[in-house]
Amino acid sequence: MTLQGKTCLVTGATSGIGEATALALAARGAAVAILCRDAERGEQTCERIRAAVPDASLRLYRADLGSQAEIRDVAREILDTLPELHVLVNNAAALHVSRTETIDGIEATFAVNHLGYFLLTNLLLPRLRESAPARIVNVASDAHKFVGGINFEDPGYEEGYGAMRVYGHSKLANILFTRELARRLEGSGVSVNCLHPGAVATGLGSNNGAWARLVMKIVGLFFNSPEQGAATSIHLASSPEVEGVTGGYFVRCRETEPAAAARDDEAARRLWAVSEEMTGLAPSAAAAGS
Ligand SMILES: NC(=O)c1ccc[n+]([C@@H]2O[C@H](COP(=O)([O-])OP(=O)(O)OC[C@H]3O[C@@H](n4cnc5c(N)ncnc54)[C@H](OP(=O)(O)O)[C@@H]3O)[C@@H](O)[C@H]2O)c1
Repeated sequence: MTLQGKTCLVTGATSGIGEATALALAARGAAVAILCRDAERGEQTCERIRAAVPDASLRLYRADLGSQAEIRDVAREILDTLPELHVLVNNAAALHVSRTETIDGIEATFAVNHLGYFLLTNLLLPRLRESAPARIVNVASDAHKFVGGINFEDPGYEEGYGAMRVYGHSKLANILFTRELARRLEGSGVSVNCLHPGAVATGLGSNNGAWARLVMKIVGLFFNSPEQGAATSIHLASSPEVEGVTGGYFVRCRETEPAAAARDDEAARRLWAVSEEMTGLAPSAAAAGS
């Protein structure tokens, strides 16, 4: 399963599942670009990857995916500097115990976990299409089952905010985004799939103070390692077994049916339109067609 000659971009690769994914792709010979929000943490990740894969070809990009202006800037930089892009792994996400808004005034979980995937992917689609066969891998979660559907009336949960509910809602959006994007990319040579990585001991939730970090450390003792958690992302990014497979939800490297709300194609279309509006991505400018 060599990835020699392939270029892969992984978001949120400064820790956890993203770092394990970036390392594995580099070990398979891919040129790996890492998108991080903190340059120093990004450099440290590169050092750790180089320690394991001394001849790794790595490149670092910096953007806070909670800022749509930064996403647009970094997408431009990527398009200017990466002549090819064969794999995009949308992995960066966060969980907020208290309701938080981004610089754009959007609830942070929805902004980073869903709109971040949506906007970055759409802006990079021209390069993925040119590089076809290409793959998009969206890291979702079984937490999508925490909600029964997209909250179209109040996607930012001004009412009824609960950290797990809002996180699950963003992960449901990842699956619906994957289905609608797969539909739009039919025949393009660019496939898109999503996955649940399992329960994995990572930094997820560690932005919520010392108490949350302690709780995560304790429950993490019973969780999988980031390397185990990255297995399905790596499979979808690189395995010949899934060549041409698109629109699927995978758990433990196998295609699985997500909850009914995640198979609602009308909701997927509506979410796409809402996401276009929230990101200012005019339908005519959306590289994915309609
Ligand atoms: N861990 C689990 O049990 C589990 C289960 C199901 C699904 N998942 C999914 O797995 C993916 C990876 O999460 P993880 O568990 O590996 O967590 P993690 O260790 O906390 O990694 C999250 C990554 O996202 C980055 N990130 C967060 N907010 C960002 C922003 N605004 N802009 C740019 N980067 C940002 C973080 O960067 P910093 O280093 O700057 O914070 C970090 O690199 C997520 O999509 C998560 O929803 C995880």
